[in-house]
Parts: sequence; structure tokens; C-alpha cells
Amino acid sequence: MAEFRLPKNSRISKGKHYAAPKDAKRVKTFCIYRWEPEAGQNPRVDSYEIDLDRTGPMVLDAVIKIKNELDPTLTFRRSCREGVCGSCAFNIDGKNTLACTMRTEDIDGDVRIYPLPHMPVVKDLVTDLTHFYAQLESIEPWIKTDTAKPSRERLQTPEDRAKLDGYYECILCACCSTACPSYWWNPERYLGPAVLLQAYRWIVDSRDEATGDRLDELEDPFKLYRCHTIMNCANTCPKGLNPARAIAETKKLLVERRG
Ligand code: SF4
Ligand code: SF4
Ligand code: FES
Repeated sequence: MAEFRLPKNSRISKGKHYAAPKDAKRVKTFCIYRWEPEAGQNPRVDSYEIDLDRTGPMVLDAVIKIKNELDPTLTFRRSCREGVCGSCAFNIDGKNTLACTMRTEDIDGDVRIYPLPHMPVVKDLVTDLTHFYAQLESIEPWIKTDTAKPSRERLQTPEDRAKLDGYYECILCACCSTACPSYWWNPERYLGPAVLLQAYRWIVDSRDEATGDRLDELEDPFKLYRCHTIMNCANTCPKGLNPARAIAETKKLLVERRG
């Protein structure tokens, strides 16, 4: 019979509590997943009471305040603070999104922050994206050409350029892939929505000359066809993109070329 309980060493325990200053008027509690592999202890959730009048408006502002003023051991990635680098992707209030573009005031009750789901955790909110990046590298996300280099740049009509809209904006935050049930079950063989969106972005680029090879690589029962159109990817993408559409368009191209 299948065992659905978490192993004992994975069960999350209650962590430390950090109270707000006594004069705080607008208090919000941030419950944050903590796990330190070297400590040999179970993960825990620490809670930090933050005065919203003394922090910036975004969830990332509060997380940075916690690290700077309350608990320097809290570990997370961030860089641009404006939704461009994709580093601060966490599971916030049950949804994968970017902490720097999520307004704290838009969350009812406590703010619950966990690492992206179904990924190995390095520490606290930092997940190991090595495999994700290896999959990205496997689709060769750069322009490939056989023809001689033009004297200036490779040109594109406005119509062809428009075909990249909805795809070039992807910041590779991994929110979509880590929300995809098909990716959870087959992460080794299914490429997942983020990488497939990137693959499609190069397939439709009129300047690229490796379209046939790119489609050959994807014609595989696992790499592409594990997508079952569950749409979690489109629902969670913090940039409003639709990886499921890229996947559907790729499948269409594969059918069309069969004649
Ligand atoms: S498609 Fe959206 S959610 Fe997926 S990696 Fe790109 S920006 Fe992130
Ligand atoms: S539509 Fe496809 S890629 Fe997107 S979440 Fe569902 S199964 Fe995953
Ligand atoms: S810090 Fe760069 S996307 Fe959030």
C-alpha cells in the first residue's frame, strides 16, 4: 500500500517567534520556512511580526528587513527588486510568485513563505536549480545559423518580431515549472513549462536556422508530451505569460510537419 506520510525528518515543526516592537500599530506576521541541512534538525516555520509602517510595501521588503534587523541567518536569493532577475521566486500564500512584485497588503492574514515546491532545498528559501538550468542548456537557448554572417545585424520584420511577444519576457524564475504536476512527477525526463517556453521562443524566431533540429529534439514522449494542459503554469506566472500556449503551439508544429 502506498505511503503518503512525510518521513519523520521532513515534518515541519513550530519554530521561533519574533514579536513586533511594543509601539507597532500595523502588525503583520510573516511565517517563513527554515531548514539548515548541516544542523541535522527537521524543518521549522519561524514567525516574525513586522510593523508595516516601518517596512516597504512588497513582501521582499519585509523579508530583507527580517534578515537585516531580526535574523541574519535567514537565507534567500534576490537581486533586482523589480521583477526582472527571477531570483526571489518563492511560494507565497500558496502561490509561486516573485516576492519583489507581490504587495504585502494584498495578502489576507499571515504571510506564509516557502521555497518553490518539489525542488531540493539548499537552505531556507534557496532551492537547487542545477537540474533546471541543465534542462535549459539542453534546448540550446541561443540563435543558431548556418548562413554567412551579414555585415550588420540579422534583420527581422515587425511581424516576425511580434511572434516573440509573450515568450521573450520570460525571466526564468521557475515559478511555472515548480507549479506543474507533470514536472513534479517526471522532473528527470519532462522539460517542464519554463524550458519548453524557451524552446518555442527559439523555434519561432525567424532569424534562427535550426528549427527542424529543435523540433526533432522535442519529438519525444517525455520531453514535451507530458504536458496535460492543467494550466498551473499560466495561472502562476508572475509575468503573465502562458507556457501552456507555447507547448500547444510546439505540438501543432510537430503535427503540421508530419504533413
Ligand atoms: S514562464 Fe513565467 S513563471 Fe515560467 S519561468 Fe518564465 S517568467 Fe517564470
Ligand atoms: S499546462 Fe502543461 S506545463 Fe502547464 S502546468 Fe499543466 S501540465 Fe504543466
Ligand atoms: S529580486 Fe529580481 S525578480 Fe525579485
